[in-house]
Amino acid sequence: MKKLQTQVVIIGSGPAGLILGQLLQNQGIDNIVIDNNSQAYILGRIRAGVLEQSAVDIIREAGVSERMDREGLIHNGFTIIWGNDHQRHSIPFTELTDGKIMMVYGQTELTKDFLDARNNGEARSFYEAEDVNPINFYSESPTVTFTHQGEQYEVSCDYIAGCDGYHGVSRKSVPPEEITEYEHAYPFGWLGLLADVPPVSNEVVYQHHEDGFVLCSMRSETRSRYYLQVSLDEKVEDWSADRFWTELKRRLPDDIADKVTAGPAIEMSIAPLRSFVCEPLRFGNMFLVGDAAHIVPPTGAKGLNLAASDAKELFDALMLRYKENDPSALELYSVKALDRIWKAERFAWSMTKLFHRLDDNPITQKMQLSEISYLASSKAGQTTIAENFVGLD
Ligand code: FAD
Ligand code: DHB
Repeated sequence: MKKLQTQVVIIGSGPAGLILGQLLQNQGIDNIVIDNNSQAYILGRIRAGVLEQSAVDIIREAGVSERMDREGLIHNGFTIIWGNDHQRHSIPFTELTDGKIMMVYGQTELTKDFLDARNNGEARSFYEAEDVNPINFYSESPTVTFTHQGEQYEVSCDYIAGCDGYHGVSRKSVPPEEITEYEHAYPFGWLGLLADVPPVSNEVVYQHHEDGFVLCSMRSETRSRYYLQVSLDEKVEDWSADRFWTELKRRLPDDIADKVTAGPAIEMSIAPLRSFVCEPLRFGNMFLVGDAAHIVPPTGAKGLNLAASDAKELFDALMLRYKENDPSALELYSVKALDRIWKAERFAWSMTKLFHRLDDNPITQKMQLSEISYLASSKAGQTTIAENFVGLD
């Protein structure tokens, strides 16, 4: 058994773990990242791509923003389309929120930048770790055990950050009587396609369609990301890129469909939609961060942004503890983060319910269309969407 010691063990090397690790590393707070997957596997995952102003600021604070600032696309508005007559409206969120922008920069690229920064520094990390297990976290000496390349490890630390996603081990290690989970699984999913073709629009497009939601997004000026609402019975193997492009163009208004550039798929996958929050986020000296604590349906692009703001909140609290020996912010982490998390959960829930085909009752669609039409015609309505979209302070 190899014994190691550090100040903070970070379980999970997704955006939450890597951002927290980099912020701590920059301040000389020792940390070890442990992930059960390989770096290649982590970099192969295609996920989010739209960053809020506050996430952009956190990435800059971490000192890992050079490529994002060079290659990221700044957005100031998004387009909504609804109804049989394809009404459309652009929501100028920067104008409505005193100058806040969104940045289009893929989670894959962001993860690569943070992995490069960590690999080039002194920080210790273990990938392809097996049997990762956080223990004794209600005591003053929490421990994380794992196996790496056939060797058993035991790491003693002050704090454990559970950044290991929805399926991770951290949340599952908490005694059931100490945790409350709130969950709703939606009866549909998103079929996503990534392709090296120019985006159809320079704004992200959200479309309400009677046969299911459509989202036209992008990763760069030459890489597009599209999503179609599909039933949970759909299997990705039954979808060729051609079938996807045909269905996308069928749902889009003709003038936009005509501008779609089709091409081979780099990736296609179906993601189920879920709203999930656990409470609290602190269990003795273990804290949950990012998807380990909550899942939003992707409508509104909150998942990655919440992971970044949780990481920053925990970092600030750890700074106060280590630099001024003041644990008060650690005590408040759960309450403060949950307030922000529930607001983002509510927004993602409301955007999902507004734009998706929810059931076969025609009155549901009539109500949705009426609400979208109201929001589009009201400055107050648009401002509500805009300030939630760019992220609440
Ligand atoms: P993750 O990125 O899940 O990272 C968790 C890490 O923990 C992983 O590296 C994993 O290997 C590791 N891990 C897991 N279990 C263990 C263990 N037992 N021991 C050690 N390590 C472990 N959000 C959006 O805003 N827009 C989108 O379009 C979007 N699309 C998505 C599509 C999919 C298929 C999924 C799954 C998510 C999507 N999201 C999207 C959500 C967004 O990607 C997440 O919110 C974000 O990745 C959360 O980051 P995280 O670091 O908390 O968790
Ligand atoms: C993506 C963009 C969005 O605006 C959104 O709500 C969800 C996902 C994306 O580019 O992946």
